[in-house]
Amino acid sequence: MRTKLIAANWKMYKTPDQTSEFFRNFLPLVSGHTRDEIAVCPPYIDIATAVQAAKESNVGIGAQNMYWEKEGAYTGEISTGMILAAGCKYVIIGHSERRQYFGETDDTVNKKLKVALDAGLIPIVCVGEVLEEREAGLTEDVLRRQCTNAFRGISAERAAKLVVAYEPVWAIGTGKTATPQIASDAHVVVRAEAGKAFGKQFAEDLRILYGGSVKPDNANALMSEEEIDGALVGGASLDPKSFAAIVKY
Ligand code: PGA
Repeated sequence: MRTKLIAANWKMYKTPDQTSEFFRNFLPLVSGHTRDEIAVCPPYIDIATAVQAAKESNVGIGAQNMYWEKEGAYTGEISTGMILAAGCKYVIIGHSERRQYFGETDDTVNKKLKVALDAGLIPIVCVGEVLEEREAGLTEDVLRRQCTNAFRGISAERAAKLVVAYEPVWAIGTGKTATPQIASDAHVVVRAEAGKAFGKQFAEDLRILYGGSVKPDNANALMSEEEIDGALVGGASLDPKSFAAIVKY
């Protein structure tokens, strides 16, 4: 039985004060909720505030990105050691916005994934096709390529904490959600790739989240799918009531 993970990706939204306010309102709405694992990934600048606010709660904190070197002259970057020391449990890797706007590739995703796993973080690796790829019938090829490259050179033992998020790029921030069937079909492809890389049992235990315009009114249908092991939520995670409603789908 895979415990579902409902994770908030705040992207570049909220100041530390707004982060405090979010947790003040959000935590009472989900206190005692044990059915699902809950995570919030705020901007770096808000992590300390979020960790402090969520201390002793059922909500874990994550970062939205990381760099693979331990330390050094890498202006603007943050290492897994820093993320862990700040109190994070999770790190998002290879979000489509990072791939689209910040030059991340399958290769950088693979480098980051290795370092995140070795650091003991729970990596949430994002994969997903853009609209043109879907329309050209390339969705499966894209998912296979992204997964094979992300998983390259990693053993099943090392990958134990891996989480994958299937996020079709055409569904992110557009209000266009993948149907539960579309998401499920994609998850089957990702699971098969994980099976090839890490073995059948690993693939069966692997949590694959769906992301892309998850809202309170579509969360239940998506989360009811056998193949869908949680959600990565952008826009709808910024409001405490709406994110709590998704957590409690
Ligand atoms: P969205 O974003 O829920 O706003 O579509 C999801 C994501 O990008 O992780």
